[in-house]
Amino acid sequence: MRAYECETGRMSTSETDTTGTEAAAPEATDENTNRRQPFPRGFLDTISEGWADRAEVAVSPRAQAPYAAKRRDRLSAAFPGRRLVIPAGSPKQRSNDTDYPFRAHSAFAHLTGWGSDAVPGSVLVFDPTPAGHDVTLYVRDRADRTTPEFYADASIGEFWIGPRPALAAVAADLGITTAHLDEVELRADDLVLEDDADLTRAVSELRLTKDAYEVEQMRAAVAATGRGFDDIVADLPRIIATPRGERAVEGLFHLRARTDGNGEGYDTIAASGPHACYLHWTRNDGPVVPGDLILIDAGVEVDSLYTADITRTLPVSGRFTDIQRRVYETVREAADVAFAAARPGVTFRSIHEAAMGVIAQRVAEWGLLPVSADEALEADRGGQHRRYMVHGTSHHLGIDVHDCAQARREMYYDGILEPGMVFTIEPGLYFQIDDLTVPEEYRGIGVRIEDDILMTETGPVNLSADIPRTADEVEAWIARLAS
Ligand code: GLY
Ligand code: MN
Ligand code: MN
Repeated sequence: MRAYECETGRMSTSETDTTGTEAAAPEATDENTNRRQPFPRGFLDTISEGWADRAEVAVSPRAQAPYAAKRRDRLSAAFPGRRLVIPAGSPKQRSNDTDYPFRAHSAFAHLTGWGSDAVPGSVLVFDPTPAGHDVTLYVRDRADRTTPEFYADASIGEFWIGPRPALAAVAADLGITTAHLDEVELRADDLVLEDDADLTRAVSELRLTKDAYEVEQMRAAVAATGRGFDDIVADLPRIIATPRGERAVEGLFHLRARTDGNGEGYDTIAASGPHACYLHWTRNDGPVVPGDLILIDAGVEVDSLYTADITRTLPVSGRFTDIQRRVYETVREAADVAFAAARPGVTFRSIHEAAMGVIAQRVAEWGLLPVSADEALEADRGGQHRRYMVHGTSHHLGIDVHDCAQARREMYYDGILEPGMVFTIEPGLYFQIDDLTVPEEYRGIGVRIEDDILMTETGPVNLSADIPRTADEVEAWIARLAS
């Protein structure tokens, strides 16, 4: 056996903080002390006293707890006799002593029901028993106020970052047995998430269908994202007047994401004019100019960590030009045909094939292809139309924006659509500004329409249908909010 090594940050309890103080631990030998002051004796003699008792609030299980228990049961059944280790992960360094905001590993969140409030460094362990597994969540217990951790550790000390729950409170909240992180051990034959390919695949495939709680969270994420899009549309005049208007779009959505949820589920794409043709345009440093289209791909991640992933493309002036409308409505046609093709029992890939059929047909009609649409759609020799829509039409969606990414191909792209699956439909057409294969009037136009779809027994439900989609609806939306 060996001790599980958990990073808690780069500062030991005897070291440092962010404002230049240092615990006067005699053994502290860190040479990087140029901006720190040792704690004087008077501080050390008084800092641990004069605090009210901590009242531990009784917690009842959160709504997600019974759902997470069922997920753990399914994982347990898939690995009889094996010890499974699912770490939450640790904060990632941004630079020097600054970290990115912590976000637990998606599988850990799925299996515990712990979302944005998860304590970094926690580890979920499945210990095999004759009947299945005993599951224990190892969490950093609270540190006594006499400890240097409490007052001197800027990365985990409660004096610095605020209180964390006691082990008993976590156990009651999540409905999982808890133990102190110091007690967790790894064994040579453990299956550890990320190290073990079978376990990594299994936790990814476990998320292919969503339970009722997850569907409710997806609906909440979509609703918050819709409010974020409304915020942007309502502020279009100010966005246009801002030199880096794309940043204003990103910032407006960020405000909504942070006030209504945990944050963005991925970096917002605010791509105006020709930037809309760059699929991952997240630099967002351009102007938003009347006459152009702006493509906005954004999603709110709610506190449970489920995220929406929605794209709308807006005419900045409020009205599409004829050519913009032609491209836009073709993309919408592709989306609608893909939606109509989606039903339980068909392959996931058939959604993409349906959308690509429309894209190939239309760009061939516009004279953009050196071959016919049928030739372009040939599996081996075709693909000429893909130049204008190089990405896939759909991906699973949930705790990760590209959820279930480690699922086997036969479970994913070649898999069968089932009730409870949540995925995007997101066709697009992108004519880059310097693409000489298209007439000049098309160049610099990029359109994507992305909706979040729930498959049910009776067919697909567009969770984002309330966010205006058709060209006419989009124009009416802007007229209503942006005046
Ligand atoms: N926003 C990433 C995607 O649409 O897949
Ligand atoms: Mn997407
Ligand atoms: Mn997207």
